[in-house]
Amino acid sequence: MQDKFYNIDCVEGAKKYLLDNSIDLIITDPPYGIDGDKLHKHYNRKEDFVIDGYVEIPKEEYAEFSLKWIKEAERVLKPGGSIYIVSGYTNLVDILNALRQTNLQEINHIIWKYNFGVYTANKYISSHYHILYYYKPGKKRTFNTYALHSDYEKDENGGSLNYRDREDVWIINREYKPGRVKNKNELPTKLLAKMILYSSNENDVVCDFFLGSFSTAKVAIGLNRNSCGFEINPTAFNIQMEELKQTVKGELLSKYINTKTNILINKGQHLDELTKTEILVLYEKLKSYGFNKKDAIAKISENFGRGFWSISKILSETNNPQIENTSGKLFD
Ligand SMILES: C[S@@+](CC[C@H](N)C(=O)[O-])C[C@H]1O[C@@H](n2cnc3c(N)ncnc32)[C@H](O)[C@@H]1O
Repeated sequence: MQDKFYNIDCVEGAKKYLLDNSIDLIITDPPYGIDGDKLHKHYNRKEDFVIDGYVEIPKEEYAEFSLKWIKEAERVLKPGGSIYIVSGYTNLVDILNALRQTNLQEINHIIWKYNFGVYTANKYISSHYHILYYYKPGKKRTFNTYALHSDYEKDENGGSLNYRDREDVWIINREYKPGRVKNKNELPTKLLAKMILYSSNENDVVCDFFLGSFSTAKVAIGLNRNSCGFEINPTAFNIQMEELKQTVKGELLSKYINTKTNILINKGQHLDELTKTEILVLYEKLKSYGFNKKDAIAKISENFGRGFWSISKILSETNNPQIENTSGKLFD
């Protein structure tokens, strides 16, 4: 599929241009149904470079509008395809109600914490968005568990980076792009790359129903995906179609693709008795070298390409009195 973008209402555009079951991934950030001027204040920024003509949805039409476009999104998604909807809290209930009127299934309700929340003196400062991650049942969903971090990459405290990256609270700063034209609420590249890399593969089709500054499209193309979508505002559409020409297919891949080998190559594989014995022997050996239990298990896990818990379970299943049951207490 060629990258295709349309300056049209997304519901009309989807009906006209998108076939049933044709899209692998939708990432979209609909208008929030809040007053335009307040929106400017909300993002606390200089307005000179913000593109005119951002189209809002009146509050009283928000529920009906949400249901219409979400039904279309459901229709065009392939079975197994995923959808991420970014939403503020003001009209979140309408989006959730609409999703409940489809067969889309919830996977995660993610909180995206950003910087530049608007200062408020007498209440807490609003600095998060909701990201609703759903999928269309019928086929296996794409989820690239090791898209960004392999099992053994550690954070500054020795914790797993893979685990941390897959927690459902994401702390990702907005981008500061002084002197560049932009749409209100332009999503950061890092946020978009994360969703695209975990939930799609190269050459898949990634669609955005509300393109704004075409940020989803730019990152999708940069990650060698195909992209399509809709933007109703002609000013934004024309400016961004021009800007898009500077995006090179696959240019972001080297920046984001995890090149470290995933060590758990035998994860989930059957373990025969001989291998179990080898694991026990190695454990005893490492202990005799002065390894504590946690480090010994980590070393065995690395050697045998299996997870920490799997090794720890094998050790706890033996009757070796020196190997205490690890299920309750894992670390020395
Ligand atoms: C929150 S912004 C999207 C921002 C975008 N994610 C970005 O990073 O720049 C929502 C966009 O949807 C557009 N829009 C509003 N109603 C629309 C509709 N019915 N169909 C298509 N686009 C629409 C608005 O003009 C606005 O550009």
